[in-house]
This record gives sequence, C-alpha cells and structure tokens, in this order.
Amino acid sequence: MQVIILPTPKDVALHAANKVVDVIIKKTRPVLGLATGSTPIALYNELVCRHQAGRLSFKSIRTFNLDEYIGIDEDHKQSYRSFMNRYLFDLVDIDLTNTHVPAATSLDPDVLNHNAVLYDAKISAAGGIDLQILGIGTNGHIGFNEPTSSFSSRTRIKTLSESTIAANKRFFMADEFQPYLAITMGIGTILESREILLMATGKEKASAVKDMIEGPLSSMCPASILQQHEKAIIILDEEAASSLTLKEYYLWCETKRQQLHKGNCV
Ligand code: PGA
Repeated sequence: MQVIILPTPKDVALHAANKVVDVIIKKTRPVLGLATGSTPIALYNELVCRHQAGRLSFKSIRTFNLDEYIGIDEDHKQSYRSFMNRYLFDLVDIDLTNTHVPAATSLDPDVLNHNAVLYDAKISAAGGIDLQILGIGTNGHIGFNEPTSSFSSRTRIKTLSESTIAANKRFFMADEFQPYLAITMGIGTILESREILLMATGKEKASAVKDMIEGPLSSMCPASILQQHEKAIIILDEEAASSLTLKEYYLWCETKRQQLHKGNCV
C-alpha cells in the first residue's frame, strides 16, 4: 500500500485527479472504475475543470461504476446513474454508451443476478479495469461490500447494513422510499483492477482508515483486503489519517519517494 497524507480534502482531490490523468494518458482505451458518494465529487469537479480548460478528453474512456441501488429508477435523483451523469458524464465529452452502472431497476432476483454476472463479464471483455476509484464507508465497506463480505465475492446483490442506510438517509426525503438493496461489484472483482486508488477525508473515516491500513485482514473491515493488492494507493487528508499509528512513517516514505523521483536519494 502507498499511503499519501495531504493537508486538506482539496489536496486529496487534486492528487487523485493527477493519478487519473496519468492513467488516461498512458492507455489508448483506458478503463476506469468509478465510485459515487460525497468523497469523489471533488475529484470529478477537478476532472471536469481540466476538461473544460481543454486539457483532458474522455472520448476514449470506458467506465464501470461500483454499484447501484435496487428499487429506484435510473432517472431518480439518488440513483448512481443520475449521480454520475450529474457530476461527470453530462459535463465531459464521454460517449455514454461507454459508461456502465450495474442494471438494477428490475425487482426480479433472477434478472438482477443475471445482470450482476453479466457486469463482471463486461468488465473482463473490456480488458479489465486499469484504475479503480474507491471511497470507504465508516464501517470499512468498499462499494457496497459490507462487513463480512467475502474477499472473493463477485458482482452480486447485497443487503445494505444499518449504518450504511443511516449514512445515506440524508439524501432521501423523509417520506421517500430508501433502498436497502444494491448490486455491487464484488471484492474479488475490485481486486482484479490493475491499480486501486482509495480516497478518504474527514474525522469520521479515521477509525475505518486505521483498520484498513494497520488492522488485521478481516472481512469485518472489507477495505483491509487492499493490504494484499499489489498497487493500492490510499490518499487521505489529515483528519482521516489522524488515528494511524505509523502516520509519521507514511509521511517520511512519501518525502523519500519524491526525492528518489527527483534523482536525489542520497
Ligand atoms: P462517502 O461514502 O464518500 O459519501 O463518505 C463512501 C462510501 O460509503 O464508500
């Protein structure tokens, strides 16, 4: 794991945007895995700014989102398809047919299971994900892989935990149906990504971040499996990093890594 600690959420978004752009530049037809939630919004804003300034095109990019709610329409304001259109896809030159979000509008479990299996097949057919963007839940989830999810799980139907439902309540009106089921990429699916970039900001993520980076591998903190990924970059702001035992070491490593890149390692 490469742990990068930066002063503010804005710094986290800028650093993440640079990484996304690096991947886009290196590949002819890059495949990005995308996330929803509050954390990646600043990243998407930054990517949109770079596009509007003429510095970045999404024409060749294909995307696969982590998850989608079951039981609300795609055009519902809180669907993850709407989220992605609002914060990224409608604001850049991406071909919408190259963007994928799990198909979760059916209420038939057979159809949903079929869609989930098909989703993994589509990712494989695209050549796999070059860079997967992740956030982390306060309970350590990645995607909607809640605590006790299998580390080898594939894209599937998942029941949301009480804490996730409570955390997402703020997006739904009091009298509105709030989904408690989702289709999510599995942890096994996520781990197949060639690189993973997880962002976390804010004090409320500090405990999950500590479990992810310094805790034992445990399905009670699904994100802890990222310790096993060959190329996982974790970008944190000061608050999210505040409970880490080895915080000073991670900061030291980054300083040394940058010196090495500048050819200045002795
Ligand atoms: P957040 O959600 O970015 O809204 O905090 C992250 C997550 O639940 O994965």
